[in-house]
Amino acid sequence: MTVQFGGLKVLNQLSLEFGDSPISSLIGPNGAGKTTVFNAFSGIVKPSTGRLLFEGRDITGSSPVAIARLGIVRKLQVPTVFPGLSVSDNLKIAAQAPRRSHEASGGGGWKIDDVTDLLHLSAKRGKIAGELSHGERQWLEIGMAFVGRPKVLLLDEPAAGLGPDESEHTARLIKEISHLCPAVVIEHDMNFIRSLGGRVIVLHQGAVLRQGTMEEIESDPVVRDIYLGRHSNA
Ligand SMILES: Nc1ncnc2c1ncn2[C@@H]1O[C@H](COP(=O)(O)OP(=O)(O)OP(=O)(O)O)[C@@H](O)[C@H]1O
Ligand SMILES: [Mg+2]
Repeated sequence: MTVQFGGLKVLNQLSLEFGDSPISSLIGPNGAGKTTVFNAFSGIVKPSTGRLLFEGRDITGSSPVAIARLGIVRKLQVPTVFPGLSVSDNLKIAAQAPRRSHEASGGGGWKIDDVTDLLHLSAKRGKIAGELSHGERQWLEIGMAFVGRPKVLLLDEPAAGLGPDESEHTARLIKEISHLCPAVVIEHDMNFIRSLGGRVIVLHQGAVLRQGTMEEIESDPVVRDIYLGRHSNA
Protein backbone atom coordinates (compact mmCIF):
# COMPACT_ATOMS: atom_id res chain seq x y z
CA MET A 1 0.00 0.00 0.00
CA THR A 2 0.89 3.62 -0.39
CA VAL A 3 -0.13 6.23 2.19
CA GLN A 4 0.29 9.79 1.13
CA PHE A 5 -0.10 13.01 3.12
CA GLY A 6 -0.04 15.91 0.70
CA GLY A 7 2.99 15.30 -1.49
CA LEU A 8 4.70 13.04 1.07
CA LYS A 9 4.56 9.27 0.54
CA VAL A 10 4.81 8.07 4.12
CA LEU A 11 4.29 4.46 3.05
CA ASN A 12 5.64 3.86 -0.43
CA GLN A 13 4.28 0.72 -2.08
CA LEU A 14 4.90 -1.07 1.19
CA SER A 15 4.43 -4.81 0.97
CA LEU A 16 4.30 -6.58 4.29
CA GLU A 17 2.94 -9.86 5.61
CA PHE A 18 2.54 -11.00 9.22
CA GLY A 19 1.57 -14.37 10.56
CA ASP A 20 4.52 -16.70 10.17
CA SER A 21 5.98 -15.76 13.56
CA PRO A 22 4.34 -15.22 16.98
CA ILE A 23 6.36 -12.02 17.32
CA SER A 24 7.33 -9.62 14.55
CA SER A 25 9.25 -6.45 15.30
CA LEU A 26 9.06 -3.34 13.21
CA ILE A 27 12.14 -1.15 13.49
CA GLY A 28 13.51 1.81 11.57
CA PRO A 29 14.65 5.39 12.07
CA ASN A 30 12.31 8.16 13.29
CA GLY A 31 9.82 9.03 10.59
CA ALA A 32 10.30 5.72 8.72
CA GLY A 33 6.53 5.18 8.80
CA LYS A 34 6.22 2.58 11.58
CA THR A 35 3.32 4.17 13.44
CA THR A 36 1.66 4.89 10.10
CA VAL A 37 1.72 1.14 9.39
CA PHE A 38 -0.28 0.63 12.59
CA ASN A 39 -2.58 3.53 11.72
CA ALA A 40 -3.27 1.92 8.37
CA PHE A 41 -3.74 -1.55 9.93
CA SER A 42 -6.24 -0.19 12.39
CA GLY A 43 -8.26 1.84 9.86
CA ILE A 44 -7.27 5.25 11.21
CA VAL A 45 -5.43 6.11 8.01
CA LYS A 46 -6.72 5.09 4.58
CA PRO A 47 -4.23 3.99 1.93
CA SER A 48 -4.05 6.09 -1.23
CA THR A 49 -3.51 2.87 -3.17
CA GLY A 50 -3.16 -0.75 -2.19
CA ARG A 51 -5.00 -3.25 -0.03
CA LEU A 52 -5.13 -4.49 3.52
CA LEU A 53 -5.96 -8.18 3.89
CA PHE A 54 -6.78 -9.96 7.14
CA GLU A 55 -7.29 -13.73 7.10
CA GLY A 56 -7.69 -13.50 3.36
CA ARG A 57 -10.41 -10.90 3.60
CA ASP A 58 -10.08 -7.45 2.04
CA ILE A 59 -10.62 -4.95 4.87
CA THR A 60 -9.28 -1.86 3.06
CA GLY A 61 -11.34 1.15 4.07
CA SER A 62 -13.02 -0.59 7.05
CA SER A 63 -13.65 1.62 10.07
CA PRO A 64 -11.41 1.40 13.15
CA VAL A 65 -14.29 -0.13 15.13
CA ALA A 66 -14.97 -2.76 12.46
CA ILE A 67 -11.28 -3.66 12.35
CA ALA A 68 -11.04 -3.88 16.14
CA ARG A 69 -14.07 -6.19 16.10
CA LEU A 70 -12.23 -8.51 13.75
CA GLY A 71 -9.58 -8.83 16.46
CA ILE A 72 -6.81 -6.47 15.36
CA VAL A 73 -6.15 -4.56 18.56
CA ARG A 74 -3.65 -1.87 19.24
CA LYS A 75 -1.85 -0.35 22.17
CA LEU A 76 -0.99 3.26 21.51
CA GLN A 77 2.43 4.87 21.88
CA VAL A 78 1.15 6.90 24.87
CA PRO A 79 -0.42 5.02 27.83
CA THR A 80 -4.14 5.66 28.10
CA VAL A 81 -5.38 3.98 31.26
CA PHE A 82 -8.18 5.47 33.40
CA PRO A 83 -6.07 6.91 36.24
CA GLY A 84 -8.91 7.13 38.77
CA LEU A 85 -9.97 3.49 38.41
CA SER A 86 -8.42 0.34 39.82
CA VAL A 87 -6.35 -2.10 37.79
CA SER A 88 -9.28 -4.57 37.73
CA ASP A 89 -11.80 -1.93 36.69
CA ASN A 90 -9.54 -0.73 33.88
CA LEU A 91 -9.40 -4.30 32.59
CA LYS A 92 -13.16 -4.74 32.97
CA ILE A 93 -13.82 -1.60 30.94
CA ALA A 94 -11.35 -2.68 28.29
CA ALA A 95 -13.08 -6.05 28.13
CA GLN A 96 -16.33 -4.28 27.26
CA ALA A 97 -14.89 -2.04 24.54
CA PRO A 98 -16.09 -2.59 20.95
CA ARG A 99 -12.75 -4.16 20.15
CA ARG A 100 -13.85 -7.40 21.81
CA SER A 101 -13.49 -10.02 19.18
CA HIS A 102 -16.57 -11.95 20.36
CA GLU A 103 -17.62 -12.42 16.78
CA ALA A 104 -14.13 -13.42 15.81
CA SER A 105 -13.28 -15.79 18.65
CA GLY A 106 -16.80 -17.04 19.34
CA GLY A 107 -16.35 -16.42 23.05
CA GLY A 108 -15.76 -13.70 25.61
CA GLY A 109 -12.48 -12.19 26.63
CA TRP A 110 -9.89 -13.60 28.99
CA LYS A 111 -10.72 -13.73 32.71
CA ILE A 112 -9.62 -10.57 34.52
CA ASP A 113 -7.80 -12.60 37.20
CA ASP A 114 -5.92 -14.58 34.58
CA VAL A 115 -4.82 -11.35 32.91
CA THR A 116 -3.65 -9.76 36.18
CA ASP A 117 -1.68 -12.98 36.88
CA LEU A 118 -0.11 -12.84 33.46
CA LEU A 119 0.78 -9.17 33.99
CA HIS A 120 2.23 -9.96 37.46
CA LEU A 121 -0.18 -7.35 38.81
CA SER A 122 -2.36 -9.66 40.93
CA ALA A 123 -1.19 -8.05 44.17
CA LYS A 124 -2.13 -4.64 42.73
CA ARG A 125 -5.56 -5.58 41.38
CA GLY A 126 -7.31 -3.04 43.63
CA LYS A 127 -4.74 -0.29 43.23
CA ILE A 128 -5.72 2.94 41.48
CA ALA A 129 -4.08 3.01 38.06
CA GLY A 130 -2.91 6.60 38.60
CA GLU A 131 -0.69 5.33 41.42
CA LEU A 132 1.08 2.67 39.36
CA SER A 133 4.65 3.12 38.19
CA HIS A 134 5.21 3.96 34.53
CA GLY A 135 6.16 0.33 33.86
CA GLU A 136 3.11 -1.06 35.64
CA ARG A 137 0.90 1.30 33.63
CA GLN A 138 2.43 0.03 30.41
CA TRP A 139 1.74 -3.56 31.51
CA LEU A 140 -1.81 -2.69 32.43
CA GLU A 141 -2.27 -1.19 29.00
CA ILE A 142 -0.93 -4.28 27.31
CA GLY A 143 -3.41 -6.24 29.43
CA MET A 144 -6.21 -3.89 28.35
CA ALA A 145 -5.37 -4.56 24.72
CA PHE A 146 -5.14 -8.30 25.38
CA VAL A 147 -8.14 -8.90 27.67
CA GLY A 148 -10.65 -8.92 24.80
CA ARG A 149 -8.95 -11.98 23.28
CA PRO A 150 -7.71 -10.29 20.12
CA LYS A 151 -6.31 -12.15 17.14
CA VAL A 152 -3.37 -9.79 16.64
CA LEU A 153 -1.83 -7.30 19.06
CA LEU A 154 -0.12 -4.18 17.71
CA LEU A 155 2.21 -2.63 20.31
CA ASP A 156 3.77 0.76 19.57
CA GLU A 157 6.91 1.33 21.66
CA PRO A 158 5.89 -0.70 24.72
CA ALA A 159 9.32 -0.20 26.35
CA ALA A 160 9.53 3.59 25.87
CA GLY A 161 10.73 5.31 29.02
CA LEU A 162 11.25 2.06 30.95
CA GLY A 163 14.35 1.14 32.95
CA PRO A 164 16.30 -2.05 32.12
CA ASP A 165 14.41 -4.28 34.60
CA GLU A 166 10.99 -3.01 33.57
CA SER A 167 11.97 -3.35 29.95
CA GLU A 168 13.03 -6.95 30.51
CA HIS A 169 9.75 -7.73 32.25
CA THR A 170 7.84 -6.16 29.33
CA ALA A 171 9.69 -8.33 26.81
CA ARG A 172 8.94 -11.43 28.89
CA LEU A 173 5.31 -10.46 29.13
CA ILE A 174 4.97 -9.95 25.39
CA LYS A 175 6.63 -13.29 24.75
CA GLU A 176 4.18 -15.04 27.08
CA ILE A 177 1.24 -13.30 25.45
CA SER A 178 2.48 -14.14 21.97
CA HIS A 179 1.81 -17.84 22.69
CA LEU A 180 -1.85 -16.89 22.94
CA CYS A 181 -2.00 -14.08 20.41
CA PRO A 182 0.60 -13.02 17.83
CA ALA A 183 2.11 -9.60 18.39
CA VAL A 184 3.65 -6.97 16.14
CA VAL A 185 5.96 -4.69 18.11
CA ILE A 186 7.45 -1.32 17.18
CA GLU A 187 10.55 -0.47 19.20
CA HIS A 188 13.76 1.53 19.00
CA ASP A 189 15.52 -0.36 21.80
CA MET A 190 17.63 -3.05 20.12
CA ASN A 191 18.23 -4.98 23.35
CA PHE A 192 14.49 -5.21 23.73
CA ILE A 193 14.03 -6.46 20.15
CA ARG A 194 16.82 -8.97 20.70
CA SER A 195 15.18 -10.39 23.81
CA LEU A 196 11.82 -10.66 22.02
CA GLY A 197 13.33 -12.86 19.32
CA GLY A 198 11.11 -13.49 16.32
CA ARG A 199 11.21 -11.82 12.95
CA VAL A 200 12.57 -8.30 12.49
CA ILE A 201 11.43 -6.00 9.71
CA VAL A 202 13.39 -2.84 8.97
CA LEU A 203 11.32 -0.01 7.59
CA HIS A 204 13.01 2.86 5.80
CA GLN A 205 11.28 5.73 4.02
CA GLY A 206 7.97 3.90 4.02
CA ALA A 207 9.18 0.64 2.52
CA VAL A 208 10.69 -2.61 3.78
CA LEU A 209 14.47 -2.40 3.64
CA ARG A 210 15.29 -5.81 5.16
CA GLN A 211 13.60 -8.67 7.01
CA GLY A 212 15.21 -11.46 8.96
CA THR A 213 16.40 -12.58 12.36
CA MET A 214 17.98 -9.99 14.66
CA GLU A 215 21.43 -11.51 13.91
CA GLU A 216 20.91 -11.07 10.16
CA ILE A 217 19.62 -7.54 10.59
CA GLU A 218 22.39 -6.45 12.94
CA SER A 219 25.13 -7.68 10.67
CA ASP A 220 23.65 -6.01 7.58
CA PRO A 221 25.88 -3.13 6.42
CA VAL A 222 23.03 -1.21 4.74
CA VAL A 223 20.94 -1.32 7.90
CA ARG A 224 23.91 -0.13 9.93
CA ASP A 225 24.47 2.77 7.54
CA ILE A 226 20.87 3.85 7.82
CA TYR A 227 21.02 3.85 11.59
CA LEU A 228 24.17 5.94 11.39
CA GLY A 229 22.28 8.33 9.10
CA ARG A 230 24.60 8.00 6.13
CA HIS A 231 21.90 6.82 3.75
CA SER A 232 19.11 9.00 5.08
CA ASN A 233 18.40 10.35 1.61
CA ALA A 234 19.23 7.21 -0.34
N1 LIG B 1 -1.50 12.48 9.68
C1 LIG B 1 -0.34 12.87 9.15
N2 LIG B 1 -0.28 13.95 8.34
C2 LIG B 1 0.89 14.35 7.78
N3 LIG B 1 2.06 13.72 7.96
C3 LIG B 1 2.08 12.64 8.76
C4 LIG B 1 0.89 12.15 9.39
N4 LIG B 1 1.19 11.05 10.12
C5 LIG B 1 2.52 10.87 9.95
N5 LIG B 1 3.06 11.81 9.14
C6 LIG B 1 4.47 11.90 8.72
O1 LIG B 1 4.82 10.63 8.22
C7 LIG B 1 6.17 10.31 8.55
C8 LIG B 1 6.20 8.97 9.25
O2 LIG B 1 5.60 9.10 10.52
P1 LIG B 1 5.44 7.89 11.54
O3 LIG B 1 4.80 8.44 12.75
O4 LIG B 1 4.77 6.75 10.89
O5 LIG B 1 6.96 7.52 11.81
P2 LIG B 1 7.60 6.49 12.86
O6 LIG B 1 8.42 5.55 12.07
O7 LIG B 1 6.54 5.91 13.74
O8 LIG B 1 8.55 7.45 13.69
P3 LIG B 1 8.95 7.45 15.27
O9 LIG B 1 10.01 6.40 15.40
O10 LIG B 1 9.49 8.82 15.48
O11 LIG B 1 7.71 7.16 16.08
C9 LIG B 1 6.70 11.48 9.37
O12 LIG B 1 7.41 12.31 8.49
C10 LIG B 1 5.44 12.15 9.86
O13 LIG B 1 5.65 13.51 10.06
MG1 LIG C 1 6.07 6.08 15.82
